[in-house]
Amino acid sequence: MARTTTHRKDGRGARAAASRSTAQQTVPATRSREPARLFQTKNDLPEATRVEVIALLNQRLAECIDLQTQCKQAHWNVKGPSFIGLHKLFDEINESVEGYVDLIAERIVQLGGIAEGTIGAVEGRSTLVDYPLAIATGAEHVAALSDALSGFARVARVGIEEMQELKDADSADMLTDVSRGVDQWLWFVEAHQQARE
Ligand SMILES: [Fe+2]
Repeated sequence: MARTTTHRKDGRGARAAASRSTAQQTVPATRSREPARLFQTKNDLPEATRVEVIALLNQRLAECIDLQTQCKQAHWNVKGPSFIGLHKLFDEINESVEGYVDLIAERIVQLGGIAEGTIGAVEGRSTLVDYPLAIATGAEHVAALSDALSGFARVARVGIEEMQELKDADSADMLTDVSRGVDQWLWFVEAHQQARE
């Protein structure tokens, strides 16, 4: 079970749960409800540690994939006088975040777990706030994407503490790398709203 205390603010999880319970009336239980599987590995971290780390990293993976989709949403839809700069910046951020997604997912697999990166898994798990769909201006996208970046950086730091508690120094180091990168991108985005010409 995830140790984070974050909660989705917009009730998307509740809506998803409601739609899943409707779906249950006509379809069998989804494949995502299959019990987590652990593969044998010569990695010397204790199995009990790996089980906990895998579950917690799958939580971070969901949020990182959610963040990546939000970067693309911003990249596609931003408009206004700052269009080209922001359009390119948001795509650069997307590329970096795609790298973070890969790092987290592959760490899960290295520990004998299954990286759960489907839209269905992400939807039910991410604690990030939904990206607003109706916004258009540069200022609106800067505000929305900086919210997403800072939200992810916060849960990444929660993850670092969790990995340290579990004595998985490598996963803690990986999340430290990721959170440092996200902090840099937050600066790049926030700089647009920190001073006016
Ligand atoms: Fe593009």
